[in-house]
Amino acid sequence: MTQGDAHPIDYDALVKPDAVHGACYIRPDIFAEELKRIYGRGWVFIGHQSEIPDAGDYVRKWIGLQPVLFARDKAGKYNVLFNRCMHRGASICQNERGNVGGFRCEYHGWFYRLDGALQAMPYPDAYGSDFDKTQYNLRKPARVDEYRGFVFASLSAKGIALTEHISGPARQQLDYACDLSPDGELIVRSGATKLAYNGNWKLQMENSIDGYHPNFTHQSYIGTFERTTGMKFDMFNGDSSVQSRDLGMGATNIDSRRYSLENPHARARLQSLQKSSWGKKYYDDLVKAHGKERAEEVLIINGTHMNVFPNLVVLAQQVRTIQPVSTERTEVYLRPSLLKGVPDEVNMHRLRAYESFYTTAGGGIHDDVEMFNRVHEGLRCNEDPWLIFRRGLHREQVDNDGTIFGQGTDETAQRAMWRHWKSVMQQELEG
Ligand code: FES
Ligand SMILES: [Fe+2]
Repeated sequence: MTQGDAHPIDYDALVKPDAVHGACYIRPDIFAEELKRIYGRGWVFIGHQSEIPDAGDYVRKWIGLQPVLFARDKAGKYNVLFNRCMHRGASICQNERGNVGGFRCEYHGWFYRLDGALQAMPYPDAYGSDFDKTQYNLRKPARVDEYRGFVFASLSAKGIALTEHISGPARQQLDYACDLSPDGELIVRSGATKLAYNGNWKLQMENSIDGYHPNFTHQSYIGTFERTTGMKFDMFNGDSSVQSRDLGMGATNIDSRRYSLENPHARARLQSLQKSSWGKKYYDDLVKAHGKERAEEVLIINGTHMNVFPNLVVLAQQVRTIQPVSTERTEVYLRPSLLKGVPDEVNMHRLRAYESFYTTAGGGIHDDVEMFNRVHEGLRCNEDPWLIFRRGLHREQVDNDGTIFGQGTDETAQRAMWRHWKSVMQQELEG
């Protein structure tokens, strides 16, 4: 139970070790509390700094329901600015992305620099000689930090550091994704594939690391894959080489390291990569950058498949952001990620792989969205309003690094997310 509230919500009664009450997805008061307790004080993913490579670049983003701008200033620094004019509150930028010299509010023309400083307003004399422009700079989140180009913000001046929020095992997963580049950097520069569904934001978080659903939800995609490649899609058949993992702090992972390292197909891919001149160059550059052992490890493991609580998913060739709108609506932005410093062919293959599943013309992502709509519809039935997350609970183990893991189709990752969700929702709000 949350202390000190007029109408406390009993989270212990709503989130059990093996089940979650439907209220957690549909009650507006719980959604309002999430905005305060999760998005209103914890670390929230804003964007990847490569989205705004040049001075003047900006992308519109959100922290919970609050609009912000992610903008590169003329000194080359990225800024997270509240998208709210300091005059009378209008949002100052409506375009999703672009390049500008500064932000001009359309209402009365106040003009802000890319770092948020108020530069000028029309007919300034009317404000008197004691008007201090520096008091009216665009406001910024209390804290902004990054890990390997992934930029996060927190609206609270106090709280854990970003490196505590993204635990060591979670950072290790992000490293697999970034170290596929000899420069160690992802490039996230394109537009986004945008999805919207009628339902709660946590449905997408649960699903992004759900190894139980692909063989059913994505049956048609998998069938096509198997027919066209002659390969068997056998990752999620319930054996223990793929693991559902709790990385700590609500971060989760479908961990296919063992599956890949032991899979003859993955090893064969390493050989065939070196048959083309561009593949050989990529392999050699990666060995030069990281050493042979690490280069081969990251090539075989081939990125990650993970969530960083509450709104970031790094999965295969994409960076996905989850944007809550209401209990009835969620938007999801999927952006393909490229690798810095590699031959064009490598990135072309990444893009084609991304497109095959995740774009509007792709074969898979729509299936998931349809399931979210169906869950939301089903949640209107309140006869027995529990969602069961029991799968594999009896066989969870603790690994050497302290992370908890189960088998690939187990719901270890979902339970981890809900445990963390509950602990954040039960924490005292300061002030
Ligand atoms: S509200 Fe922005 S200039 Fe008036
Ligand atoms: Fe899916």
